[in-house]
Amino acid sequence: MNATHPSQTQIDTLLSAAHEASKNAYAPYSHYHVGAALLFSNGNNIAASNIENVSYGLSLCAETVAIASAHSQGNMSDIIAIGLAGGAPNEAGKAILTDKAVTPCGRCRQMIKEVADMSGIDTHIYCLHRTGHIHYRLSDILPDAFGPDNLS
Ligand code: THU
Repeated sequence: MNATHPSQTQIDTLLSAAHEASKNAYAPYSHYHVGAALLFSNGNNIAASNIENVSYGLSLCAETVAIASAHSQGNMSDIIAIGLAGGAPNEAGKAILTDKAVTPCGRCRQMIKEVADMSGIDTHIYCLHRTGHIHYRLSDILPDAFGPDNLS
């Protein structure tokens, strides 16, 4: 890969890390398990899953938890790609993939925008479905984004 474009192997690894992380979802209300995995420019991955709350609006999406986890481990910059997998859980808690891939919710798009601006990379977003994946760049799914430039 070059600095900002993942190789096919890295994409496959990222998506399987996201799918694996869906096993750890805490989603007793929606029963929708999501795993998100971050790929850093040094090749490292950090994965996380969604965490719901009985006060529904407090729930945290997998992408947000993954970014917070990266920050708590010392680095949320240099993220070049995010992989996502979601679905109703199987007996082991792993998301059962359907034809409809999970895509980042609006709040998560803005969370991803924050880390994208840190690295200057238009984040690659890979969304797993039953037969393959969809690839987006952040700018495709969050056009005309609100960013630090707006404040100056
Ligand atoms: N969810 C995510 O984890 N990421 C998204 O981008 C979309 C939605 C979670 C939130 C909630 O726990 C469940 O999926 C159903 O909305």
